[in-house]
Amino acid sequence: MRINSLNNKYNEGKLISFEGGEGVGKSTQIKLLKSYLLENNFKVLTTREPGGTEEGEIIRKFLVSGAKNTFDPLSELLIFNALRREHINKVINPSIKKGKIVLCDRFIDSTFVYQGIGKGINKKVLLNLHKKFCYDIYPDITFFLNLDPKIGLDRTNRRKNNETRFERLGLSYHKKVFNGYLKLSKKFEKRIININAQQSIKEISEKIIKHVMSIL
Ligand code: TMP
Repeated sequence: MRINSLNNKYNEGKLISFEGGEGVGKSTQIKLLKSYLLENNFKVLTTREPGGTEEGEIIRKFLVSGAKNTFDPLSELLIFNALRREHINKVINPSIKKGKIVLCDRFIDSTFVYQGIGKGINKKVLLNLHKKFCYDIYPDITFFLNLDPKIGLDRTNRRKNNETRFERLGLSYHKKVFNGYLKLSKKFEKRIININAQQSIKEISEKIIKHVMSIL
């Protein structure tokens, strides 16, 4: 897989993604990194997938809630791709061009593991779609928050929201997702930083900040 950093294309702005299974603490870490960067006078935009655009946030509801088999895996993949293309066109690229640091809760690696490894969609199909419709864009840096899927699922089961479509696929699916992330982080060790998410929130945040500052 070719790693096509946005930074190489525009020489300004950065795309930083956060990945991991359910309940690993991505949003907490994104908030802490955002505060740190703003205090240090960087321009920051936080966003998420699925979603990130007005229309994407509406379609997100159908992807993350409801019955687990609502969509055929390939249809689901195409929806994630379509939303990502919109997200890149309307939010990510314009922000990068303005020199912003874009902190994105999930990006292409989620598709590789949830649709590819988790649901068995051929890797070539995923890579081709990404190339054709999403400009073959990869983040400058990705943080994989590494947490035993059982601990993560126990956490999300305690949360009161209805975004449970993927949670309901069960522990065996989420073990595949977790192993997929481990494999990806080994294969792309320069881009994907594997962070032990069982450390304290502060320890995790300090490590993330250190890595981010090394690329700014
Ligand atoms: P989250 O934003 O609360 O982490 O949840 C979004 C869910 O969507 C999560 O279960 C992972 C799933 N997802 C995919 O399956 N493929 C994707 O490409 C993306 C971005 C998310």
